[in-house]
Amino acid sequence: MITIRHCSGFDDFDACVQLQIEVWGYDETELIPRKTFLLAQKIGGQVIGAFDTAPADGSAEAHEVIVGFAMSLPGVKTTNGEARPYLHSHMLAVREGYRNCGLGVRLKREQRLDAIARGIFHMEWTFDPLEIKNAFLNIHRLGAVVRQYRPDFYGVSSSRLQGGLPTDRLMAEWELVSHRVEATLDGSPAEAHNRIEERILVPAAIYQWKASSANRDRALAVQLENRKKFQEAFSRGLTVVGYSLDAEGNGIFELASLSQPEQVFKSQEREKTL
Ligand SMILES: CC(C)(COP(=O)(O)OP(=O)(O)OC[C@H]1O[C@@H](n2cnc3c(N)ncnc32)[C@H](O)[C@@H]1OP(=O)(O)O)[C@@H](O)C(=O)NCCC(=O)NCCS
Repeated sequence: MITIRHCSGFDDFDACVQLQIEVWGYDETELIPRKTFLLAQKIGGQVIGAFDTAPADGSAEAHEVIVGFAMSLPGVKTTNGEARPYLHSHMLAVREGYRNCGLGVRLKREQRLDAIARGIFHMEWTFDPLEIKNAFLNIHRLGAVVRQYRPDFYGVSSSRLQGGLPTDRLMAEWELVSHRVEATLDGSPAEAHNRIEERILVPAAIYQWKASSANRDRALAVQLENRKKFQEAFSRGLTVVGYSLDAEGNGIFELASLSQPEQVFKSQEREKTL
């Protein structure tokens, strides 16, 4: 049985650090330490864990084991002199044997509800456009949109998931109280209503190409070609509004012009959601 709850205390934060090492394999220059998890929680961010309360690890005593977490940091955006709080979700991780059972989505849903309850209506995070699963989760399952591309955002990374490539990232924007996000979380993605003007493809083989030094040049070629396509599309005002998979498992970003801003920060909308 899996319980989702806020982390608290050194044991929980240590468990997050260990899971971080297990999932990304970071070296000490990139590892987020326990004290940063603790501070994130203290200063208005989030450290939310998924715990298996009956792990099949042979132990006779009742105990819980962390199997996933979502960590975010608080931020402020100032538009037209008005400062608004938001959350930057820095990490989402689920332990290998627990993936594809909906835990990633459950952690994001919990982040959203917690943010709204505290008067925060916007969340952002970066993700690697070559990671087909993450793009599918962020755009198709959660209803995030994307309009920014950041080449080599973090510089060189020791993450084993990066495959030695530049750390190019898309910026996911999640309007927590918007029709798009609510409809998507209810199981009816809003992307069908957009007129798609451009599609950008990521081949299913990208995972193998990134993982083998012999084929890494092919992964790099896709990254560089798609980087150009995204930058051109965003400079024309297009937004990633949808993501689909074809029969071969290739990932396809779908871009459209959004006619009106989707931001909804009004308090009455907040009341409606709660
Ligand atoms: C990304 C991650 C957190 C997702 O966790 P999860 O518990 O597996 O996610 P969920 O089960 O809620 O959702 C995953 C969805 O992707 C789908 N999926 C799985 N493999 C896929 C693939 N290769 N391509 C496309 N979609 C895929 C699943 O079917 C599921 O969708 P569905 O619910 O419609 O079936 C987890 O895979 C992970 O820890 N990855 C490594 C760290 C990472 O990349 N973190 C995110 C960036 S910070």
